[in-house]
Order: sequence, then C-alpha cells, then structure tokens
Amino acid sequence: MKILMVGSGGREHALIKKLKESDRVKQVICAPGNGGIACDAQCFPVPVTDIEAMVGLALEEKADLVFVAPDDPLAAGMADAMQAAGLRVFGPSAKAAEIESSKVFAKSLMKKYAIPTADYEVFDCAQKAVEYIASVGKYPTVIKADGLALGKGVIIAESFEQAQRAVQDIMNDKVFGDAGSKIVVEEFLTGPEVSVLAFTDGETVSPMISSMDHKKALEGDRGLNTGGMGAIAPNPFYTQEHARFCMEHIFLPTIAAMNAENRKFKGCLYFGLMLTAQGPKVIEYNCRFGDPETQVVLPLLKTPLIDVVDAVIDGNLAQMELEWSRQNSACVILASGGYPVSYAKGYEIKGLDSRGCAEDVTVYHAGTLCKNGVFYTNGGRVLGISAQKNSLREALGAAYQAIDKISFEDMHYRTDIGARAI
Ligand code: AMP
Ligand code: GLY
Repeated sequence: MKILMVGSGGREHALIKKLKESDRVKQVICAPGNGGIACDAQCFPVPVTDIEAMVGLALEEKADLVFVAPDDPLAAGMADAMQAAGLRVFGPSAKAAEIESSKVFAKSLMKKYAIPTADYEVFDCAQKAVEYIASVGKYPTVIKADGLALGKGVIIAESFEQAQRAVQDIMNDKVFGDAGSKIVVEEFLTGPEVSVLAFTDGETVSPMISSMDHKKALEGDRGLNTGGMGAIAPNPFYTQEHARFCMEHIFLPTIAAMNAENRKFKGCLYFGLMLTAQGPKVIEYNCRFGDPETQVVLPLLKTPLIDVVDAVIDGNLAQMELEWSRQNSACVILASGGYPVSYAKGYEIKGLDSRGCAEDVTVYHAGTLCKNGVFYTNGGRVLGISAQKNSLREALGAAYQAIDKISFEDMHYRTDIGARAI
C-alpha cells in the first residue's frame, strides 16, 4: 500500500511514523513535508492548498490512499476532489469540515441539537455586537471570528474597552480577513480544558486517549495564543465519568446531528472540551487531528493505525476495538524565538542525528529543512520532542532531558508542560 500524506507539520510526521509501523504500508510519500519528514517519506513540493496539483500528484504516484491532515485543504474540499478523481481518502468532505471552518455553523449545530456549549450570539454588524456586549456587561467575554484564522481568531476580552477593540479589529479592520465577516460573542467558561480526538465513520465514535494542549506561548499560560507549545496524554482531569457523559451527550449527538444535516462526518473529529462546574462543554470542534495532541496520543495507539483508517473509510468502525498503551505521553515543542509573532529562520539545529532523531524520545519535525545532512529551522514551531514512559513525570523527564542536548539560535520552549497535571 502506498499512502500520500498531505501536510507539513509535527502532526503529519507523527501520522507517517505510525502508519509505517504496519507491514501493510509499503511506502508513504508526503506533500509538502519538511526536512525531518523527508527521512521517513519522499516529499513533493506541492502546497497543501493546491487541490488540483495534489490530486494530480496522487494520481501520478498511484497512491492507494490519500490522508488529508490540515484544516485548510479539508475546508476547501480536497477530500471531495480526491474522491471525485476516484482516489481513496481519509478526511471529511468540505460540508462536514464546516464544523471547524465556521464557528457560526458549529454553534448553531450545538444549539439546534442541545449539545452542551457556551451561550452565545452571532453578529454580522459591529455596532449590534458592541451594543449586545454592553447590555450583557459581563467580563471576561469571548469574541470569535467565524472562519479559520490560524488558531488566532479567539479573543478573551477582560473589559468593555477590550471587547469593543476586538470587535473593531475583527469586523471593521478585518485583521483575520473574511474569516471575520461574522463573529460569535460567547459566555466565558472556566475549568480544565481537555482535547479528545475521535475516529468516526459517521456512525460509530471511537474516542482516542484524552490529552491536554498548552496553547499559550509562555510559562504559566501567559503570552499569546500559539498553535500549541506542548501536550500530555492522558489528561488526568478527564475521568471515566466525564468520558461516559461526553459519549452520551456530546460525541454521539454530534455525529447524529451531522447526519441529520446531511453532512456525514468521516475521519478524525476533535472535541475541544472544558470541564465546567456544570459538566463538560464544547469549546470548539476541529475536523482533523490536533497538533501537538497527535504527537502524544498516536504513540499510545497499539492497534495498527492503517487498520483504523480503513475501518473509518469503509464504515466498519463498530467491529473494531482499539487497543491503547497504558503509558503516559508528553511532547514539548521547540519553537523559534519570537513565535507566534515574527521569527527568523535558517538557524542550524544541533544535537540531532543524521536522520533527525535523538535518543530515548521521538523527534517530530514541524518547521525544519535538511541540507546536506544538516537540519535548519524553517518555521515557528520547529520540533516536537515526545516521550512515552510509565508515569507522566518520567515522560516529561525524558523529553526535557533530550531537549538539553538540542539547540538552535533563539530556541524557545515552555519549561512547565504538564506541570499542572502532576
Ligand atoms: P479555540 O480556537 O476555539 O480553541 O479557542 C482558543 C482558546 O480560547 C481555547 O483553547 C480556550 O482556552 C479559549 N476559549 C475559547 N472559548 C472560550 C470560552 N467560551 N470560555 C473560556 N475560554 C475560551
Ligand atoms: N492543538 C489545537 C489544534 O490543533 O487546533
């Protein structure tokens, strides 16, 4: 079997490494990939958003399966295009991907089908939004751009002035472009956050091991929101009881709701949850594997990933029992100094072997480039250092110990990944 992986981050690297564990997978190729992925898969310089070229590559390379990992191409209909070209594909249709690409759609779905989430209102007029915020008068309040905004479209406003500014920035100054034509204003929730990724064939939901992301750039959850600075799995705040509640009130109802709306979701559905005093509520859906959650969750999967992928595509998930390791997993992201705002690229990365690996951990490459056997930084998030051990403490210890031997100019990472969970 030959697989084409679409994407270029640490998540894609983790998916590729996992897929390759099975003898059934003869070859994985990737577009566009990165310097480290190139050690595991031949890379082709096709941008993730070029649907036509990607379909062309899949056909030319005679891929038996195309795995579309990032949100942008899914929202733009890459899975539909692959299918229309007669290719076998893992990833939801554009209509199903709207559960991530439109927050307005996701919120109205939850309201219509009574899926627990924060109370909210939708606005396409800045003036009305500001009037509403003033009339509620409760802070913090949460303002979200409707569309995809590289994970930056959510603003937590601590005061009326901040809220007014956020509405102004998003709707009038269009800081997120068309993604901000509509906004959601919602209630601020508190509680531990949990990410639950789930395989679904549109009927059965198979949740993966829970995880915890760390979205803020700096220690103590300070600084700007990033794509994610590290993750641990399982998430100790997420109990069996939460899992039962979520299956009954969130996971299955979401799948049923998507079917009722004629948007059958097949692929990996990501539930971003908050465990509030009133019970778990949905903060967001993603139509894909999370990054860096994938880098902690997938290493714990014992069932061959390719078998699960086949079951999702063929609608056989009900017949499959997923097997998980009982170990703990931790991943720390090494980022370029200045990320997520502005940062330099092209610094030499020291401390990796010739295949981009390091001892006792798995190194997932995100923003790297390889020239003559030497790795260079080539993005905001550069590497994810992931370890699996019998306790969270040991997993974190192994990851941080490995990091001591890796370096590049202006390297930045959080020293408190998982600290809240110990
Ligand atoms: P999102 O892009 O929707 O995941 O939002 C980014 C982050 O903003 C989330 O991980 C939460 O930490 C925070 N957030 C989003 N919505 C809310 C909310 N209603 N209440 C509190 N925090 C929120
Ligand atoms: N880690 C959050 C995301 O992938 O969007």
